[in-house]
Amino acid sequence: MTKELLKEKLNYSYSPFSKVRVAAVAIDKNGNEYYGVNCENAAYPSGLCAERSALFGSVVHGAEVGTFKELHIISNLNKVLYPCGACRQVMSQFLLSNAKIILHSTDLKQELTFTMEELLPSGVKEEDIIAKEI
Ligand code: THU
Repeated sequence: MTKELLKEKLNYSYSPFSKVRVAAVAIDKNGNEYYGVNCENAAYPSGLCAERSALFGSVVHGAEVGTFKELHIISNLNKVLYPCGACRQVMSQFLLSNAKIILHSTDLKQELTFTMEELLPSGVKEEDIIAKEI
């Protein structure tokens, strides 16, 4: 993966409503790369962010949930774009605990790196949602 290739993926974003183009690439522990872009919809809430497009889309290609070591994000907003709350929750289940989330500025000159815990302290975990019989 190169930053330039990630930036090129902005061209595939389907964002006729907001005009905000976002691209993401999720890299698993074996180095496999899965790209995603945001896809909007006339029924606005039916659209999906680039991060979740990348992660959910990886599953059919054989990727394993919980094994991602890096997630990179870029947009056309001329600054770094922080992932939304829903994406952070999904990322917390797809990423390894020591994974890096790397936010790139549109001009590729700035790069901010975060851990999952920094972006989503105390996210909902699989073991939290197992209902106990009452
Ligand atoms: N968007 C993303 O793809 N990722 C984010 O982290 C934040 C927002 C998209 C959703 C929508 O298509 C557009 O950006 C404007 O919110």
